[in-house]
Amino acid sequence: MTKHGLPKDFLWGGAVAAHQVEGAYNVGGKGLSVADVMTAAGNHDERKITDGVQAGEFYPNHEAVDFYHQYPEDVKLFAEMGFKSFRTSIAWSRIFPQGDEIEPNEAGLKFYDRLFDECLKYNIEPVVTLSHFEMPYHLVTKYGGFRSRKTITFFTRFAKAVFERYQDKVKYWLTFNEINNQSNYDRAFTLFTNSGIQVKPGENAEEVMYQASHYEVVASSLAVQIAHQINPDFQVGAMVAFSPVYPATDKPSDVLKAQRAMQARFWFSDVQCEGEYPTWLTQYFDAKGYDLDITKADLANLKRGTVDYLGFSYYMSFATQASDHEDKQFSYNESRDLVTNKYVPQSDWGWQVDPEGLRYGLNWMNDRYHLPLFIVENGIGAIDKLTANHEVHDQYRIDYLRDHIVQMKLAMVEDGVPVMGYTPWSAIDIVSASTGQLSKRYGFIYVDRNDYGSGSLARYRKDSFYWYQRVIATNGADLSLDGEHDDTKA
Ligand code: BG6
Repeated sequence: MTKHGLPKDFLWGGAVAAHQVEGAYNVGGKGLSVADVMTAAGNHDERKITDGVQAGEFYPNHEAVDFYHQYPEDVKLFAEMGFKSFRTSIAWSRIFPQGDEIEPNEAGLKFYDRLFDECLKYNIEPVVTLSHFEMPYHLVTKYGGFRSRKTITFFTRFAKAVFERYQDKVKYWLTFNEINNQSNYDRAFTLFTNSGIQVKPGENAEEVMYQASHYEVVASSLAVQIAHQINPDFQVGAMVAFSPVYPATDKPSDVLKAQRAMQARFWFSDVQCEGEYPTWLTQYFDAKGYDLDITKADLANLKRGTVDYLGFSYYMSFATQASDHEDKQFSYNESRDLVTNKYVPQSDWGWQVDPEGLRYGLNWMNDRYHLPLFIVENGIGAIDKLTANHEVHDQYRIDYLRDHIVQMKLAMVEDGVPVMGYTPWSAIDIVSASTGQLSKRYGFIYVDRNDYGSGSLARYRKDSFYWYQRVIATNGADLSLDGEHDDTKA
C-alpha cells in the first residue's frame, strides 16, 4: 500500500459474463445453455424458464450484444479506458456443447484463444469465471444439473480442459459465480442459474439446494487442485454475492436472526476458504433431518482444495428481523425474512444502495478469511438515455461507483484490508441476468439495442467511460468529475 492508497499493480478493470454479452448462441458448435432457455421479463418480475427453445418466445441472450463478433473493437475500448484486467467467463457449452462429452470442442477453445490474445495485446489481464450461470442445458435435462454427483465430473473435465489450454494466458480464475445466490432457494431463477435445478412439487427446496451446493463446493475444490497441478502460479478464487444482512433493530432476537442469515449466505465461502463445514450447519442438517450425500472423500477434498483468494460482487445490503415465533435454529428464508432498510435508498429495481456496506463487507471478509479479496462486480442497473449526439449523461452511475470506490479506499487505506482489484459491472452494456432486459444498463459503453432485440448494436462511450478512465489513470486518486481533485496532490 502506498502513502496515498492503492498498490501500483491494483487490477482496475471491468466485468461481464459470456452469456450476457457474446450472443452467437449456436455458432462455432456451441450447445444450448441454461441462459438460452430464459425469456425476458420486466422490472419486477422473473424470467420464464421454457422447456427448451420455443418458437414465438424471445430469448435475449441468443444475440446479447454480439461480443462474439465485436470483441476486437470492444477490447480496444476497454484498453482506451485503461483497463488492467477484464473479467469474463467461458461459456461451458462452447467447450462442451452437451456437457458430458469426453473431448472439448476445438472451435470453442479457439474463440477464447483469440479473445484472451486480444486482451493480452493491451496488457489486460483476463480474470476468468468457469461457471457464470451458463451450464449446458443438456446436463439439466439428462442429469438434473447439480442434483447429480456426475455433474462434478463434467465440471472438472471442463475446468481441466480450459486450465490446460489457457495456462500461459490466464492466471486469475474463479470457480462458480455467486455460488451463494441459491441460499435464496425459493426463487426459481437462482437454483436454475446456479445449479440447473427446477424444484418439483412436494420437494423440500432447501434440502435440494444444500445437496446441489455440496456437489458444487466439492467440484470447486477439485478444480482448485487440478489448477495448481497444471500451473502452480494460477490463482483460483471462490465467488460469492456479498449482500450483508443487517438486523432491522437492536432487539437481540433480530441480531440473532441476522447472524443466522449471514451464516446461511456465507457458509459457501466458509467451506471454500477454510475447507470445512461450519458446525452450525452440520447441526442444522441434523435438526432438519437432511440426509445428504457427503462422503469422507468429499470432506478430504474440501480441505485440500481451498481457494487462493475470495472474489465477490457487491451491489446492495439487506436487513432482516425475527418473527415472534422463531424456531431454535432461527431458520432463515430469504424470500420470507427480508425487510426494507429505511436508512438506504433503492434503485429503480428495488436494490438497496449502500456504499458503506462495502467497507463493512471488506472488513467482515478480511476478519473471517484472511485471504486477498477481489471486488469482481459492483455497479448499478439504470435506464440510460442516448442523446442525439450519441452521448449518455450517466451521472447516477458515476455517483454510485465513486461512493463505492471511496469506501473501498477507506477499507484498504484506513483498515488495511488487502484488495487485489476492482472490476465494476459492467465493462459494456449486457443483458441483465435476473430480468433479461437490455434497458437495465450497467456499462461504461452504451450498446444500441433494446429489450426486444432491435437496434444497430453500435457502441458509444458514456460520461462514466471518461470518468473511469481518469480514475484508473490516477490509480483511484482522482474521483472528481472535472479532474481537479487529485488527492495525491493534497
Ligand atoms: C450478479 C451477476 O448477480 O449481478 C451478474 O453475477 C448480473 O451476472 C449482475 O448481471 C446484475 O444483476 P442483474 O440481474 O441486474 O443483471
